[in-house]
Amino acid sequence: MAEIILVSSGKGGSGKSSFTAGVGRALAACGKKVLAVDCDIGLRSLDLLFGVSDKVVFDWGDLLLQRCTKEQAIVRGNVDLLAAPPRFNSAFTPESVAAMIKMLKPDYDYIMIDSPAGIDRGFELAAAGAERAVVVSTPDSVCVRSCGRAFDELYKMGINDVKLIINMFEVKPVCKHKLLNIDQCIDETGVQLLGIVPRDPNLGYCSVTGNNPGEFSPSTLAFSRIAKRITGKRIPLVCE
Ligand SMILES: Nc1ncnc2c1ncn2[C@@H]1O[C@H](COP(=O)(O)OP(=O)(O)OP(=O)(O)O)[C@@H](O)[C@H]1O
Ligand SMILES: [Mg+2]
Repeated sequence: MAEIILVSSGKGGSGKSSFTAGVGRALAACGKKVLAVDCDIGLRSLDLLFGVSDKVVFDWGDLLLQRCTKEQAIVRGNVDLLAAPPRFNSAFTPESVAAMIKMLKPDYDYIMIDSPAGIDRGFELAAAGAERAVVVSTPDSVCVRSCGRAFDELYKMGINDVKLIINMFEVKPVCKHKLLNIDQCIDETGVQLLGIVPRDPNLGYCSVTGNNPGEFSPSTLAFSRIAKRITGKRIPLVCE
């Protein structure tokens, strides 16, 4: 039975999709069966980050509307993928999305749901089937505040197991007081820290290569450590 993890943030561009792809791959490398669900309706990106755009024929909207089977909707890979629909449909409700996720649960160890930016309709749909969540924040006040808001909304929805990921972390700008430090991010979001992902200039190439930027790149190492923590291993927190 899968654990269902929502990847959210509030503000856009904080690294939710990169995190979903990177940690999804790292969980798969630990031998786990992983499904990534792209909930960014109309603006999907996980098919690019997994390098399977040309294999996407159906999406989870088709599955929900019974236009295709589960086997047709899921793009198989190291990490299986359910692509996002191109547009909203009135049949996409929190209840119908939650039922779809529940139906997929027995097939996986982890289902990672990539939320769109914002805390409105798309976020509510993405959160509908989730049991736990991470909020991904860059170390700046605007993003940190939006993660605090997302945390409040998740709590109202009954998702109490929420952890913080600080993404695009750089030690030097913190030393120069240009960005928030780790303690400030934790204090201002009020969320317990799960991991830190350093700024990795090569991560941007993932959408071109459909893979991680290399086995020893800082982001790959960070995703691997976070994946191990998700599986329950005790891995010390360090700034890779
Ligand atoms: N740790 C990192 N280091 C450097 N660049 C990063 C890092 N994480 C993400 N990025 C880059 O930031 C940009 C936004 O990342 P991504 O698409 O994952 O964010 P998002 O939160 O999913 O955005 P949206 O809210 O639009 O869905 C991408 O160009 C990505 O390559
Ligand atoms: Mg995204």
